[in-house]
Amino acid sequence: KTAVVLFGGQSSEHVVSCMSVVNVIDHINKDKYDLLLIGITEEGHWIKTESVKEIKDGTWREGSVRAILSPDAGMGAVILLDGTKTELVEADVVFPVLHGLLGEDGTVQGLLELSRIPYVGCGVLSSAVSMDKLYTKIIVDDLGVRQAAYVPVMRHQLKNMEQVIARVEERFDYPVFVKPSNAGSSKGVSRAEDKKELETALLEAARHDRKILVEEMIVGREIECAVLGGGNQPVKASGVGEILAAAEFYDFDAKYNNADSKTVIDPQLPDGAAERVREAAKAVFQAVDGRGLARVDFFVKSDGTVVFNEINTMPGFTAISMYPMLWEAAGISKDQLVNCLMEDALS
Ligand code: DAL
Ligand code: MG
Repeated sequence: KTAVVLFGGQSSEHVVSCMSVVNVIDHINKDKYDLLLIGITEEGHWIKTESVKEIKDGTWREGSVRAILSPDAGMGAVILLDGTKTELVEADVVFPVLHGLLGEDGTVQGLLELSRIPYVGCGVLSSAVSMDKLYTKIIVDDLGVRQAAYVPVMRHQLKNMEQVIARVEERFDYPVFVKPSNAGSSKGVSRAEDKKELETALLEAARHDRKILVEEMIVGREIECAVLGGGNQPVKASGVGEILAAAEFYDFDAKYNNADSKTVIDPQLPDGAAERVREAAKAVFQAVDGRGLARVDFFVKSDGTVVFNEINTMPGFTAISMYPMLWEAAGISKDQLVNCLMEDALS
């Protein structure tokens, strides 16, 4: 069978994807699958490659072979375009190891639906809803799982900045968190301590998306849970893990550039909190119609209250990522995990 592995992508998480994919490739069963690696460059070109590095470093240009995934439902293949030569490679399954916009948000999933090639992970709806923090909020509100209170702000409303600020201040005390609705790895997210910082934060978030959320500050520990299944399989939740961020909050830099950020598997939590996290993780995953995998992130307050933060439908798979670590702790090796995701896609 041929497994197509898509990585890179046009989002701000391009580099993270390049780190994740190395682990995914390592653990795909090569006796079962021939691999076709397609790197999506930051500019959005699809390139057949053998080297993650050339996509990551942007050195892919010389003599690169373009890879075209056709939406033609009868083709089920990737067309390789090498100068004027074309080659068709039948694709049995695609693993889109893409984080963030134009990859984890239902767009690539839509193309794969049209092409009728099975793929790993969430479908169009769950990917789109989970990438959009505002829509996730609406669904989680309906589910009755606790989450940070929020004020939605549209970019065009920032023309009346005073009004927006008044709306936020009426609702919350400082500090508040400001987030673009669609973004990943904490890009464009900031914490605002006062009116001035709120204004700056709103403008920064607006650079990333037309929809913005201002959230109340939740004081709690950052606890994450991995979910596997959905689709034709029962949903399983792993144990929980904790993020001990070296920075004030676990932003992009703290996540990937700061060696002092730590992850702890199975941390000591108030009575029953871990179980509540696991139940809520499954509930959120099912509510967004999740399939395959997701990592669901929470805050746990000192009294044990569990507050949902966000769901990631293609969680990081890097060497320091929580998702594979949580399953390893649950006795599922990375080999087994990747294999199980591929099998699920094919079932
Ligand atoms: N968005 C990153 C990859 C994560 O949630 O792990
Ligand atoms: Mg995320």
